Amino acid sequence: MTKGTILFPHYPLPWPDPFVPSYKTVSIGKWKCTPYPSGDRIMGYWRPHNFVPNGWMFVQKVKNNWLKWMSLTPMELESHQPHIAAAKGVVVVAGLGMGFYLYNIIRKPEVTRVIVLEKDKNVVSLWKRTIDTNQWMGFRKVELIIGDAHAYKPGFPVDFLYADIWSHLGDQDALEITQRLQANIQAKEVGFWGQEFDFIHWMMALKLPGSVESNATQANYLRFCQHVGLPLVEQHHKRYPKLAYVAVTLQTAISPSVNAADRAKLTHFALGTLQTELLIDRALDVK
Ligand SMILES: C[S@@+](CC[C@H](N)C(=O)[O-])C[C@H]1O[C@@H](n2cnc3c(N)ncnc32)[C@H](O)[C@@H]1O
Repeated sequence: MTKGTILFPHYPLPWPDPFVPSYKTVSIGKWKCTPYPSGDRIMGYWRPHNFVPNGWMFVQKVKNNWLKWMSLTPMELESHQPHIAAAKGVVVVAGLGMGFYLYNIIRKPEVTRVIVLEKDKNVVSLWKRTIDTNQWMGFRKVELIIGDAHAYKPGFPVDFLYADIWSHLGDQDALEITQRLQANIQAKEVGFWGQEFDFIHWMMALKLPGSVESNATQANYLRFCQHVGLPLVEQHHKRYPKLAYVAVTLQTAISPSVNAADRAKLTHFALGTLQTELLIDRALDVK
């Protein structure tokens, strides 16, 4: 931290902090697991951070350049939090990636069995070489299936489906892919990476009177879940729709296509809502 830096307040999230697995630097063919640089003042998914130590990433060599394929940045870690909190019973995870989500759910006592669907053999080989499964509490619960998640049909009831098989946050195909997976899997509850974008964009398209923030309500989130036909996570959480607004607004603010004036305006709106939503319950609780 440079001397004299103004620190962000610590905004407490309504979900437990995630655990980050240890990795080691490994190369296999065109794939490599390597540290991701540390940094000062980094935007997470729901909130800004002060100093963040290095994370890890999987990179792939394409035409002599190492391209980042997957990484564990504060944005990645935080965006998984509601889905980690929701996992219970028999869970299907579509997309192994670096196994960060898996690492967090198998250690939960209420998670009894986890079926992971991953189509890329190279990702699985790299992951197996770069982790120490002895340090993965609950690893015996894991069943790994290599293949296309779309083809998977369980012959038993599934309590929770988590889908993350696309590379970009807010991918426009994410909802449809999740709906296709759920048609086969029929889980009791479902979460998908970046689902906050689908909710907020659906609501904006309705052109409701009032601001986007004022329409990010629990009633509208329940309408969204009905509209998309998915039993999505966080339906009973009164703060979640506003936090979804915060996440989408912050991620939009830091997008390279947004100019400096809009960035300032969006960040201002998002941090105002974040402050209110996260601190109000705690402040009201003070005796
Ligand atoms: C963004 S990563 C998932 C990150 C993961 N949530 C984590 O915690 O590290 C997406 C993963 O989905 C895999 N994938 C993409 N399409 C798939 C499909 N149709 N079926 C199964 N896996 C797929 C990719 O190979 C990649 O490993």
